[in-house]
Parts: sequence; structure tokens; C-alpha cells
Amino acid sequence: MRGADETGPGAAFGVYIHWPFCLSKCPYCDFNSHVRHVAIDEARFLRAFLAEIAANAERAPGRTVTSIFFGGGTPSLMQPATVAAILDGVARGWNVAADVEVTLEANPTSVEATRFRGYRAAGVNRVSLGVQALDDGALRRLGRTHTAEEALAAVAIARQVFERYSFDLIYARENQAPEAWAAELKRAIGEAAEHLSLYQLTIEMDTPFAALRAAGKLTVPDEDCARGLYDTTQDICAGAGLPAYEVSNHARPGAECRHNLIYWRMQEYAGIGPGAHGRLDIDARRHATVTEKRPEAWLVRVEQSRHGIVTDDILTREEIADEFLLMGLRLTEGIDPRFYARIAGRALDPRRLATLNQEGAVEITAEGRLRVTPAGFPVLDAVVADLAA
Ligand SMILES: C[S@@+](CC[C@H](N)C(=O)[O-])C[C@H]1O[C@@H](n2cnc3c(N)ncnc32)[C@H](O)[C@@H]1O
Ligand code: SF4
Repeated sequence: MRGADETGPGAAFGVYIHWPFCLSKCPYCDFNSHVRHVAIDEARFLRAFLAEIAANAERAPGRTVTSIFFGGGTPSLMQPATVAAILDGVARGWNVAADVEVTLEANPTSVEATRFRGYRAAGVNRVSLGVQALDDGALRRLGRTHTAEEALAAVAIARQVFERYSFDLIYARENQAPEAWAAELKRAIGEAAEHLSLYQLTIEMDTPFAALRAAGKLTVPDEDCARGLYDTTQDICAGAGLPAYEVSNHARPGAECRHNLIYWRMQEYAGIGPGAHGRLDIDARRHATVTEKRPEAWLVRVEQSRHGIVTDDILTREEIADEFLLMGLRLTEGIDPRFYARIAGRALDPRRLATLNQEGAVEITAEGRLRVTPAGFPVLDAVVADLAA
């Protein structure tokens, strides 16, 4: 992982591009993803992406882009030529670092895997595959349209085509026994190279899963059981050389997702596409931007004013400091409390720190960094709330 001195503005610059469409909507998902039963005018979306990139580059010029991330939705539904044109647009707006990380999220279906070589030729050098489970029954219940075999075939193609790949699994699923999860995870690690994202199933409001649970038709593991699954996850991954570097992300040292580190280290990024968030430092002030969420309304807005930004807040010192804690403490590297004091204009409360330390939830490293301990991670929200109060 890169050094802590790289935390903060100026150290890295990311560009996030949101493709908001999926072939079907998974019943657990509350991402900004939509299903359309008419053909999507990809050329029109491309023009809008290019306009919004150019507008962002004018607002925040002179940066060197260190990572680009195509997220979704399902960006692997885009034509490789569209991805290539967007990458050209980024390079027209900003300098691009020679070792830029370019990630694309892909659904592991056979159709999408046929496009992998095209994405590689376009400049994508890392894929993140939504495998979700290695059990066909679980995949069906998650509403996925691929089998475990198909997903593993996509992983094998990713391995041949890209320098770097990662895949996602969801655990703490309905009726998931600890031994079954341990076996599934070990199998996944056998297929993983350098990075795995392991998410505990969250029942998001207003999703079909929330309705099923409310109706008593979906039972997810209780808190104790989920905690057991989390602990198993940490032990198995650490033992296999893929320790957690963030709450849900595991990597071999040096193989962390550089783009996501930008969010957690509170560095700068531009958010392009429907519902994308950005953090830009303009005239020494931190702007938090959000674009119009509805895809077609975003298109119209960009066509009218070259960007789809609907919220552009200048964050106060207090808000920046809170965000720094909230995001930074997700990382096992933790935060530099001196940097916090510079942002907030005051140090963290030493009594609260001492109490949390005595409770075993946080520790100060030899280099003076504050980090959450393995015992503290399951209660991270409470730790952050306590420190930010
Ligand atoms: C933007 S989504 C996925 C990319 C891609 N569309 C796919 O589904 O393969 C990123 C990841 O978030 C995770 N995720 C989404 N909703 C979740 C939920 N309710 N609980 C836990 N993980 C979730 C999934 O693992 C998913 O792969
Ligand atoms: S999990 Fe992925 S494929 Fe499923 S609806 Fe969400 S973004 Fe789309």
C-alpha cells in the first residue's frame, strides 16, 4: 500500500464513470441501476459522458489521473469502442499517469466475457467481476442470471486477458452455514489472484429482499451468526495471504484497488454519469458533487449545460474532518491523527481515544497512526460516531 503521506488532496486523482443499466435488477441491490426494455442509445450517452468529462476537466484542470473506474449498473454491457472513446476523452481533459489503473466492473456471464479482449485493447487493465456466490441455488435466490460454472469461466478469461482482476462475493446469505461459507471462500481464494471483495449481505430499504424479509419469507443470519461468518472470513483470507485492507476488501499487499483507496483516503475524484459523486478541490475548497440520478434526465441536463451536477456543496472543516474519519478508519492502515487535527482545527479527544483503546477497539501504531483493531471493525460505526462526537 502506498504511504500515509499520500493521504489528502493532491496525491492522486480518480475518475469514476457510472453506467446505469443492467439486464435485470437483482432483488438485493439498491445501486443506481435500471432495466430498460427499449434499446439504449449508447452513442448519445457517449456524447454526454464526453461533455461531462470535458466540463469537469475545465473546473479541475491540471490533474494527473491515477485511476479510472467504470462502475454500475453493469458497465460490461457497454461496447468496447464506447469505453475506448471515454478513455480518450479522459486523456483529452487531463494528463493520465503512465501506470494508471483502469478498472471495469463486469457481470460474469458468457456474453460479457466475450467483450473482455475488446476492453483490454481499449485500455482497461483491471476487471472486477460480480461472482456473488459459487453455489447455483444461492445464485438463483440472489436473482443472478449466471451459474457458478459460468462465473468461473468468466474469471478464467479475465485471468488470461487482464493484468489484474478481482471478484465479489456476498456472504451471510439465507441459511448459510459457517462450514459451507468456509468451503466456498476457500474455493474462491483458489480462483482469486490478488484481490477479493467480500460483502456481508445488507438488506437495503425498498428492495424486494426487504419486502421478503418483512413478510417473513427471507431469514438472514442474526448478528452473532453474521459475526461468526465475518471472523471466519478474516481468518481464512489472512491465512491465504489476502488480508483485509478495508472492511470488505482483501488483497495481497501492493494489490489494493487504487481507485477505491482514493475514496477512503479522502483524495480527489471526478464523478461522471448518472448519480455519480465527486470530490473536487477548487480554490482551496472541497466540493462534494452529485449528478442527476435518473439516466434520461441526466442526459438531458448534460445536453443543456454540459454537466449533470445537481448538488455542489462546499464542505465545512467539520464535514471534511468527519468524512476523513468515516472513510479513513475503514482502512486497516487507519488515519494520521495529525492530519485530522489539521483539517478539523482540533485534535481528537484524548479521553475518548483512551477509552476506545482500553476497550480494545482502536490502537495507535508505532508511527503514530490511529487504526481500528480487528475486534473494533465489527463495531466500526459506533467507534466513528464516538470519535466524531
Ligand atoms: C455495483 S455492484 C456490481 C457490479 C455488477 N453489476 C454485478 O452485479 O456483477 C457492486 C457489488 O456490490 C455488492 N452488493 C450489491 N448490493 C449488495 C447488498 N445488498 N449486500 C451486499 N453486497 C451487495 C455485490 O457484490 C456487487 O458485485
Ligand atoms: S447487483 Fe449488479 S447486476 Fe444486479 S442490479 Fe445491482 S448493479 Fe445490476
